Amino acid sequence: MRQQIVAGNWKMNGTIPETENLIKQLLAGDSKNERATVLVCPPFISLQAAAKALEGSHIKLGGQDMSEHEKGAYTGEISASMLLTVGASHVILGHSERRQYHAESDDLVNRKAKAALAAGLTPIICVGESLEQREAGQTEDVVGRQMRGCLNGLGPDDLKKIVVAYEPVWAIGTGKTATPEQAQEVHAFIRDLVKDIDTSAGEDLPILYGGSVKPNNAKELMAQPDIDGSLVGGASLKADDFIAIINAC
Ligand code: 13P
Repeated sequence: MRQQIVAGNWKMNGTIPETENLIKQLLAGDSKNERATVLVCPPFISLQAAAKALEGSHIKLGGQDMSEHEKGAYTGEISASMLLTVGASHVILGHSERRQYHAESDDLVNRKAKAALAAGLTPIICVGESLEQREAGQTEDVVGRQMRGCLNGLGPDDLKKIVVAYEPVWAIGTGKTATPEQAQEVHAFIRDLVKDIDTSAGEDLPILYGGSVKPNNAKELMAQPDIDGSLVGGASLKADDFIAIINAC
């Protein structure tokens, strides 16, 4: 049985008091699911307060990005060890918003993934095609290229420690979700690609779906054989919706 994960990517939302309040609501509600790891990824500035609010609970903590460097003169950056010492276990890498607004390449995501693994953080590597690419029939080309670029040089042991999130760009924040069949097709493609490198790493790889996941579509998506959970944006900011998605897993 593969590990199931439901992760909330809060993006640039929530002040520290709002973060504490949302965590309080999650912990007061039915946010536990024996079958799934639950993870929240607040903005960097809220991580410490979030870690305190989550102390002793079942909810894990992740960063939304990190530097490829260990330390030094990189103004504005946050390192893997900084994330670890604040209590994070995971880090989202290569989100399409980082690729789009901060020109992140597969090469850079690859270097960040290696730095995360070296530090002992679990990278959640995001891939996904744009609407134009899907309509031009290039989904597998694009996702395949992203996957190979981001995983370049990772051996079987590393591949057993990563998580992949398939997030079609056209489904993020648009209310347009991939159908379960569309998502399943790409998830199976991603798994096969990793299996070609190492069979058991591919079999065990948790592949999350992200893009307008809501309480009313989560169950059908996560029921697909190669969908092992979800990376939730907007709906993870509402405790009731996020809890419903956790329980749909
Ligand atoms: P939405 O759930 O708001 O579409 O965002 C998805 C996402 O980008 C998660 O990383």
